[in-house]
Amino acid sequence: MENRKIFSMITGLGAFVPDKILTNHDLAEMVDTSDEWIRTRTGIRERRIAESGKGTSFYAAKAAEIALKQANLPAEELDIIIFATVTPDMYFPSAACFLQEKIGAVNAAAYDISAACTGFIYGLNLADGMISSGKYKNILVVGAEILSRIINWNDRGTCVLFGDGAGCAVMQPSDGKRGIVGTFVKSDGRLNHLLNMPGGGSIYPPSEAKENPEKYFLKMEGREVFRHAVTLMGDAATRVLQGNGFNGDDVNLFIPHQANIRIIEAIAKRLHMPDDRVYVNLDRFGNTSSASIPIALHEAYHLGKFKENDLVLLVAFGGGFTWGSALVRF
Ligand code: ACO
Repeated sequence: MENRKIFSMITGLGAFVPDKILTNHDLAEMVDTSDEWIRTRTGIRERRIAESGKGTSFYAAKAAEIALKQANLPAEELDIIIFATVTPDMYFPSAACFLQEKIGAVNAAAYDISAACTGFIYGLNLADGMISSGKYKNILVVGAEILSRIINWNDRGTCVLFGDGAGCAVMQPSDGKRGIVGTFVKSDGRLNHLLNMPGGGSIYPPSEAKENPEKYFLKMEGREVFRHAVTLMGDAATRVLQGNGFNGDDVNLFIPHQANIRIIEAIAKRLHMPDDRVYVNLDRFGNTSSASIPIALHEAYHLGKFKENDLVLLVAFGGGFTWGSALVRF
């Protein structure tokens, strides 16, 4: 049984992706790559690309409306909006404030968090703590990205990996039996250079983009990221399971961050998790960073991949480095 009291639960899930599909075959006409290379090295077949002129909060608002409806919660009753993203609408104000305006959450405090692909897990961890304090009741945790805007479309090593989309969860006080059983979050800033976008911040401000255009794209040391992802996601999974008195056999569904099928397979092997208990949708969406877990969770819920009282394990990893996990009794 759970080691700790359960304070918060997910009462609504939502996801929304852009209509435009970019296939591996389309990419093969843009850079020197092939469908075969991308599929065998990453597991990705296609990804979604946001419409030009639309910001991240546009897609997040669509996802939020779905989640709020399921939770039967009017947007005005939201206390907090936590928006995890590395591709906000603007430098400031936060994407959360744009989202707040779009959904009419007039009574909420809204802000962004930056934890790259682990952002949604960081958000769940924060929301769980805030609800457990007794100070807040209704929190919207969002993971949404338009990564296509920061990708170098001439770099075959990165442009084939990422996609756009939004997902979110409404968090409310638990009935004590179901909800967030435990979370684990960690970061290691010493590894910041392996995955980042140097430009656009205070070191290389937007005004200098013309002088160093190459700095204003996502950059990644693919092999190093891969190696750390397997180790650290495996650790995050083990920590949250063992820390709460469980092991891999207790997990009904494992939803890992959707970055690369080979990373997912390596972690599943380490956790002795059979394929039918691992949820994968990266073939259709690619790596959507902070949106990947809430999109997958929303989809898995609607496909009946888990049922009431099932234990679902969420694990993510991203730039920073950041990594983390959440164990949820649905
Ligand atoms: N098409 C064809 N060839 C390519 C492509 C491509 N799209 N990309 C790279 N190659 C080539 C390379 O140039 C290299 O050629 P060379 O041997 O002639 O130099 C060859 O393929 C092998 O390159 P590697 O980088 O060693 O390929 P690898 O098997 O490591 O796969 C990949 C690359 C897919 C990027 C892998 O390293 C990976 O998935 N890393 C983790 C990436 C990731 O998950 N990032 C995000 C995690 S955190 C977050 O989500 C933000």
